[in-house]
Amino acid sequence: MSEIQLTPRDRSDLRLLAWGAYAPLDAFTGEADHRSIVERMRVTSGELWPFPIAPALDDETAKGIKGASSVDLRDPEGTLVGRVVEPELYRTEPEADVVPLFGTDDPNHPGVAAVLEAGPWRLGGRVATDHDFALPAPFDHYPATPSAVKAIIAEHGWRTTVFFQTRNPIHRAHEYLTKCALETVDGLVIHPLVGETKDDDIPADVRLRCYETLLDAYYPKRRTLLALFAAPMRYAGPREAVFHALVRHNFGATHFIVGRDHAGVGDYYGTYEAQDLLVSLGPAELGVTPVPFEHTFFCLTCDSMGSAKTCPHDPEVHVHLSGTKVRELLAAGELPPPEFSRPEVAAILKEAYTS
Ligand code: ADX
Repeated sequence: MSEIQLTPRDRSDLRLLAWGAYAPLDAFTGEADHRSIVERMRVTSGELWPFPIAPALDDETAKGIKGASSVDLRDPEGTLVGRVVEPELYRTEPEADVVPLFGTDDPNHPGVAAVLEAGPWRLGGRVATDHDFALPAPFDHYPATPSAVKAIIAEHGWRTTVFFQTRNPIHRAHEYLTKCALETVDGLVIHPLVGETKDDDIPADVRLRCYETLLDAYYPKRRTLLALFAAPMRYAGPREAVFHALVRHNFGATHFIVGRDHAGVGDYYGTYEAQDLLVSLGPAELGVTPVPFEHTFFCLTCDSMGSAKTCPHDPEVHVHLSGTKVRELLAAGELPPPEFSRPEVAAILKEAYTS
């Protein structure tokens, strides 16, 4: 019997693939698409797509399924969730692939580390499945499939909808971006990524409590939707921004917010590298209009949010806090200042960090 067990990340990708969120992909990528995606960020048919999506296998598993006419897929808990029909087993070159994918081969980069650890074997092919891949609690209460999100957008009658990707609680800068963007379109979808992230990112269930509280108090219900994006993070900066934008088109987005160092980690990418790539590709390639923002901050002199574009004051009066600094404050039982984070959000984070 030929079968493989998926990692939690593989399952997240399969879930979105099965829900139709990863169009133009409708299968795990085979060897020709793998090469084409790595080298030119496009599938062999020419459509834009930034990452190969296919489970990795260790040597023993690869040997075990060689020549199989189909391969059963078990999720990390052992449940049978589908079958790869006409499977294509192939070897990749992880050490070479990471450079175009991530712009670095530094194994300290979390996305690079994941590809290197996965090793060379991949399994491509179409997946036959009738599994529903529902998200577990507390995520099961929110729209997460493209069809569910598109249906709600249609119910609201929004002709233009801007999507906001985030892997963080919504702080004042995020709130500013989303509200500025909403000023020019009909609706806003707060679309937090709730798939696998690195260990020091704030867990999705804690973030969900922050989003609920913030939306309830500060966002207009008629024009805002909280929906979930169940993909894993790769921290690939520019390529991940392409992924985030393209996939949002499948969820019904017409516009997509991209700010500073989108999907970045450490100092691997330039502040506007991801944004510049999205703007240069444009709506014809992405299927959505990128909505770019400069680095925004709270200015104590203006007494409001702004950016270098809109605020004339010196950096000393701008409130900047790094993620590391915020985590240090929270771990010490202190709240980040209200210019950085709404007190309601800060209180939830403090509680999560100290309990
Ligand atoms: S990301 O990995 O999902 O990009 P994050 O949740 O921090 O990380 O960012 C969500 C979006 O907000 C991204 O488009 C990012 O560029 C943007 N962003 C975050 N903070 C700022 C800021 N201070 N100024 C401008 N854009 C920002």
